[in-house]
Amino acid sequence: MCPNLIGAYLMVARPAVPPLVLPWTSREIVENNRDVLATWNYHEGTKHSFQSVHSSQHFLDFENQPLPFKIYPGLEPIPLPRDIEPFREPALRALAASDDESEGKPLLDLKFLARLLHYSAGITKRIRYTRGEMLFRAASCTGALYHIDLYLVCGDLPDLEAGVYHFGVHDFALRRLRRGDFRGELVRATAGEPAVASAPVVLICSSTFWRNSWKYQARTYRHCFWDSGTILANLLAMTAAHRVPARVVCGFVDDRVNRLLGLEPQREVALALVPLGRNSLVGHAPEVTPLALETTPLSRSEVDYPAIRAMHEASSLTEEAEVAAWRGAAAAAPLAPPSGPLFALRSLSEGEVQNSIEEVIERRGSSRRFAREPVSLEQFSTALSSIGGIAADFTQSVGRLLNDPYVIVNAVEGLPPGSYVYHTDQTALELLGEGEFRDEAGDLGLEQALPADASANVFFLTDLAPILERFGNRGYRVAQLEAAINGGRLYLASYALGLGATGLTFYDDDVSDFFSPHAEGKSAMFLVALGHPVKRRLG
Ligand SMILES: Cc1cc2nc3c(=O)[nH]c(=O)nc-3n(C[C@H](O)[C@H](O)[C@H](O)COP(=O)(O)O)c2cc1C
Repeated sequence: MCPNLIGAYLMVARPAVPPLVLPWTSREIVENNRDVLATWNYHEGTKHSFQSVHSSQHFLDFENQPLPFKIYPGLEPIPLPRDIEPFREPALRALAASDDESEGKPLLDLKFLARLLHYSAGITKRIRYTRGEMLFRAASCTGALYHIDLYLVCGDLPDLEAGVYHFGVHDFALRRLRRGDFRGELVRATAGEPAVASAPVVLICSSTFWRNSWKYQARTYRHCFWDSGTILANLLAMTAAHRVPARVVCGFVDDRVNRLLGLEPQREVALALVPLGRNSLVGHAPEVTPLALETTPLSRSEVDYPAIRAMHEASSLTEEAEVAAWRGAAAAAPLAPPSGPLFALRSLSEGEVQNSIEEVIERRGSSRRFAREPVSLEQFSTALSSIGGIAADFTQSVGRLLNDPYVIVNAVEGLPPGSYVYHTDQTALELLGEGEFRDEAGDLGLEQALPADASANVFFLTDLAPILERFGNRGYRVAQLEAAINGGRLYLASYALGLGATGLTFYDDDVSDFFSPHAEGKSAMFLVALGHPVKRRLG
């Protein structure tokens, strides 16, 4: 049986990704979003395989570990209210209602923003180790390295002046980077995206590459979307719970947004915008002058991974007209009709699961070990039903997803163990191959015990070719992001059901091969294992 190579995943130096031999250097950056060779090169070059992982020379230099926070030492903190009383919307209802059709008009004020920021990306847990204290956050993140930052761009709110703000996770405070109403700049950057053009507040996710590439090297570009996706899953559940319209916007002129936030795009880039609320009048923005704000150094030195920057450049949009043409749902071909045995899913009713979304987020934490016990069909069906459309500028909220969920069932009552594909439109699982696949699941998940012990593993696989055809290289961003948001939803649904879950990394081609011929030509984007967690004994 596979050993748990990554037992002490957080603390122990381990082989990470293969040394990359990529066909570009930092000066030969492909700039054209339509030249999709850039994506294939990046994707191929950052795949994990048994060989690449076991031959990697990479080690973790703990003396040079980056700070997991972005800190502006010269800016005054604007403390966010900490007395956040729970709203108590049942988690499953919040997860089911993630759309932008809500007509509610809640007050977007500091208290509400504090609530959203805390439950999306705030600190929810502190664990003491011999070497210090580890702070864990509302959403899961590869290696707990927390490279995603959140910014707010708003007009005048009842208790917050119009401005551009950074969310400081370390002290739960905002810091103003610019004074004035700059939302018009985002309207231009998104070529008049209607949700942006009427939003009182726009939230923006960014990644500082080094904070993650310290461990994961060039594979970090995938993690940008994985780790912002889990945050957005929380955020969308929270906005849905409060009936606040929210929409994920990935089409924008990258330079404009990066400049507005004062980012150094060689090190940190904007990934996605989320306009919050509607019916606000957005005017022209003041001139966007360069920002030169001091930030606390992350570590003694930083290593540059040109492949990350190249992939980002290659998927960047440079003109408003390009953005306008880019926006819109992909016409994805439907999954082949089922030809194998079909198993209907039977979800629990909303009333049967009462945990509020806030309780669930506070309790969430990646399972470190699973007991080899079955989950009920109802539990598993309910968890799977959290996977669905996202209100976004690249997809329809109903209809075919960019990713297809493939499943290894180890122990679900009423389902033969085996491999499956989930037909979301029929709420049914098609059996692809019956068998005990615990060892295979462990091997696919980088030889870890977690996927072998879990009750089920859900892999998100996508057919990249038509997505790149439709969206260019930027299709890679949205395919990763969609998978990660649904992965984040699976996490939350599992915890709402009293189960545990964890994201996992995987051997790319082995996953596609395992689910083939059904998954022929598809690429693995995200993996979540779920089951009964084993509580760790203290002491
Ligand atoms: C996309 C993704 C992949 C992950 N891969 C692994 C993994 O391979 N092995 C593991 O033990 N944990 C994995 N994790 C879990 C993270 O280590 C965990 O989220 C992080 O330590 C923060 O802890 P928390 O989720 O308990 O808050 C992954 C998490 C995510 C989001």
